[in-house]
Amino acid sequence: MIELHNISKIYNKSKSNQVNALKEVNLTIESNSMLAIMGPSGSGKSTLLNILGCLDVPTKGTYKLHNQELQALNQKKLARVRNQHFGFVVQDFALIEEYKVMKNVEIPILYSGDKTNKKERVLEMLDMLGIKDKATEYAYNLSGGQRQRVAIARALINNPDVILADEPTGALDQKTGQQVLDIFKRIHQEQNKTILMVTHDERIAKQCEGIVNIEDGEIY
Ligand SMILES: Nc1ncnc2c1ncn2[C@@H]1O[C@H](COP(=O)(O)OP(=O)(O)OP(=O)(O)O)[C@@H](O)[C@H]1O
Ligand SMILES: [Mg+2]
Repeated sequence: MIELHNISKIYNKSKSNQVNALKEVNLTIESNSMLAIMGPSGSGKSTLLNILGCLDVPTKGTYKLHNQELQALNQKKLARVRNQHFGFVVQDFALIEEYKVMKNVEIPILYSGDKTNKKERVLEMLDMLGIKDKATEYAYNLSGGQRQRVAIARALINNPDVILADEPTGALDQKTGQQVLDIFKRIHQEQNKTILMVTHDERIAKQCEGIVNIEDGEIY
């Protein structure tokens, strides 16, 4: 379970130019939920995801993950929490173009330690996402939908319990976007993963179990 209590995030561009990106946000997310995060551009959605995924720390407030208070942790311990619990899918896929598909998916394994059956695990994951035949293809040769599947495979390879996805269908046409959403639904239902997904698309959001609406740094 994720519990945010009075979380604020202030970006200091300069002393006179502060951005209050999150304002005393309170949010509880049960394990095994699938939620959409919606709100206008600049409302704080990515900031929220970054804090949830321990990529960034809040300026104020408390964050409890499975009953552990995270604000007390140093950078190294926070990185361990991040690697253990979270998988990230970003909008522009962030694949390494000159790597083959397999090597892209392996990246989190190389960071996190457990290297047993690396190759088999990667192939199994690609198979689950329907792109096993692309394993030895270079990333730059893939279509948008294929790239997003590789990014999802990479997010899942360390078996995180929470997937954080920032507009995972934003760059895809409607049909491919729906296919990607179906993958998330399947992972959620079959593997009990928590899915938190930023989207601007009502049709996508409606298929989640709930919607977190954020506006000007506040949750409604
Ligand atoms: N690193 C940063 N430094 C300074 N300001 C930032 C930084 N990151 C975000 N902001 C500001 O914080 C506010 C929230 O940004 P955020 O990226 O969370 O919005 P968003 O809801 O994800 O928007 P979009 O839908 O456009 O991706 C914005 O005003 C943005 O300009
Ligand atoms: Mg954003």
